[in-house]
Amino acid sequence: MTTRIIGTGSYVPEQIVTNNDLAQIVETSDQWVRSRTGIGERRIATVEGTSQMAARAARRALEQAKVEPEAIDLILLGTSTPDYCFPSGACEIQGMIGAVNAVCYDISAACSGFVFALNTAHAFISSGIYKTALVIGSDVISKLIDWTDRSTCVLFGDGAGAVVVTADVKGIMGIHMRSDGKKGQVLTCGARTNGNFLLGKKPELGYMSMEGQEVFKFAVKRVPECIGQLLEETKVSAEAVRYFIIHQANYRIIESIAKRFKVDLEKFPVNMEFYGNTSSGSVPLLLDEMNRAGRLSRGDKVVLSGFGAGLTWGATLLEW
Ligand code: UT7
Repeated sequence: MTTRIIGTGSYVPEQIVTNNDLAQIVETSDQWVRSRTGIGERRIATVEGTSQMAARAARRALEQAKVEPEAIDLILLGTSTPDYCFPSGACEIQGMIGAVNAVCYDISAACSGFVFALNTAHAFISSGIYKTALVIGSDVISKLIDWTDRSTCVLFGDGAGAVVVTADVKGIMGIHMRSDGKKGQVLTCGARTNGNFLLGKKPELGYMSMEGQEVFKFAVKRVPECIGQLLEETKVSAEAVRYFIIHQANYRIIESIAKRFKVDLEKFPVNMEFYGNTSSGSVPLLLDEMNRAGRLSRGDKVVLSGFGAGLTWGATLLEW
């Protein structure tokens, strides 16, 4: 038995912030951001939190899958921007959608969060522990951004994507995940847990900070390496893959991965022009867009891959 995606859904906030809007508050330009990243605009949440966005994406996925919330055994939310330290976002979503029979928790793997959550759900399903799961990636990274820091504020946006997965004879063919905690400080954001009662130190809020070039070098080396290993393990060639749905951080990273596998860029769909880097939301958001546009056919081999803070990176190969 393996794990098959039977429904997808996504949600983005209504408010659009363009590169030109950001050029009003930091020294940047539409030309710089587009040419260096492929990003043109992003959505920024006003009233929605991570769980609310996730619940909306989840409802759409359930509706498409024709699965009732009560039939869900497991909810995994990949996020690094939960609305609360506790309860978990996944528990909140459970309450919002009425998935009363599910066990629920969050997975913290930053932009790899959705892929790590999907692979974790696969481990449960393929071992027979659970049958049907809801896997979601949702982040409101805009809340962690220092809006005076041009090196990060132009890159990110808010959004969520969800999939319903269930036990089936075809679906996920292989998974691969890696982490490198020694390099964690190249992409980091302080938490509220830095206070100290005995030393009389109040918790301080931190902003996201990133050594962009270090993360870029990591991504163009480790992502193709990871996908390459996955293809080797599953004995599937890069040519046989219909689509590579890669975390939407930077178009140049995607070009570099396509070049490494010597496959046409047409196999690497992108939507970062409209949403920027939505962290854990990016892979399921693009997957849902592709699915609803009718671009995925039964039997297509698809690679999903995420990478980000931790450092973390991983991939899933599946047959649609
Ligand atoms: O989801 C997590 C994964 N994150 C990523 O994958 C991000 C990976 N990194 C990147 O995508 C790229 O490194 C960036 C897009 C963040 C930056 O692109 P870059 O080509 O590596 O630029 P850079 O950092 O080398 O900066 C080049 C120049 C610098 O100016 P000087 O020192 O050459 O005078 C920066 O100060 O561009 C400047 N710069 C900007 N200029 C206009 C940095 N940010 C901006 C900006 N607008 N927003």
